[in-house]
Amino acid sequence: MKTDTGRDLQRDPAGRLRHLLTLEGLSRDEIVHLLDLAQFYVREPGDLPARDGALLGRTVANLFFEPSTRTRVSFELAATRLGADVVNLDLHSSSRVKGETVLDTIYTLQAMMVDVFVMRDSEPGLPAFVTAHVQPHVSVLNAGEANVSHPTQGLLDVLTIRQRKGDLQNLCVAVVGDIRHSRVARSTGTALQTLGVGELRFVSPASLTPEQDEFPGAKRFDSLEDGIRGADVIMALRIQKERMDQSQIPDVDAFLKEWGITERSILHANRGAIVLHPGPMNRGVEITNAIADGPQSAVQQQVRNGVAVRMAVLATIVRNVQVRNVQAGRRDV
Ligand code: CP
Repeated sequence: MKTDTGRDLQRDPAGRLRHLLTLEGLSRDEIVHLLDLAQFYVREPGDLPARDGALLGRTVANLFFEPSTRTRVSFELAATRLGADVVNLDLHSSSRVKGETVLDTIYTLQAMMVDVFVMRDSEPGLPAFVTAHVQPHVSVLNAGEANVSHPTQGLLDVLTIRQRKGDLQNLCVAVVGDIRHSRVARSTGTALQTLGVGELRFVSPASLTPEQDEFPGAKRFDSLEDGIRGADVIMALRIQKERMDQSQIPDVDAFLKEWGITERSILHANRGAIVLHPGPMNRGVEITNAIADGPQSAVQQQVRNGVAVRMAVLATIVRNVQVRNVQAGRRDV
């Protein structure tokens, strides 16, 4: 069964995006707008990072109830480069360890004039729950929700594919590995389908395949060789041990041999195929060093795009709230 990802909660009464909980329900034009704005913020290695004042006077709070390196740091950099004040709640020294509820934590930070909550949690439903309780000028951005949704990762993945391969309509994208437990596969798959990708494939052992009612348009393969034959883009996924029973965790060596993206297995893909991985990578499990660090890898480009995408999302959401505030006669500057 699919979890309700909050697609109906993320808009204001005029239909503008006020939160970003999921990519489900976003139109092609909305996604393209976010990608184009992100592209505006992209800089090459060695350049100074892009900056503007779109979030001047705003406060962004990062609340990560599950570990993160890329998403948490890139949201912090994105908000800072847009001129916001940023608070990173250290959960080990916060009052949550004394039993404070998440909602009381939210209300406490909201009273300190936090405008945007960036949230990650291992359980489904927290971003939507918080969205239903914050004040009308406050936004919630989903930074990774169980195996349900990771919308900014989906955006940065399709931005990377667009930069490297151009028009998605002519591309075959193979998502490989632990799809069942992956929020990235769900969000990136949604973005790819909304943008009209030529072919979307899910390539995984039966135990790691999503249920049949998810992504009816995706082709499913239970053989790596068949699944990546003719692919232009391969997205390798991490084995999500933290979402598995001990008995479900595959043997590392056997997994690499049968499902790993290696110098040998990638020969089945199209010449010039690129390899994505959302990170963190399990090197030697779903991907080898030679591929992760080789010329076909787009992993570092994904990370770079992550900051630009989060700048675009923050700027868009805050702009939408600002429009609503001005229309409602609230003091917004
Ligand atoms: N891709 C991703 O979400 O990475 P982090 O867990 O490091 O944020």
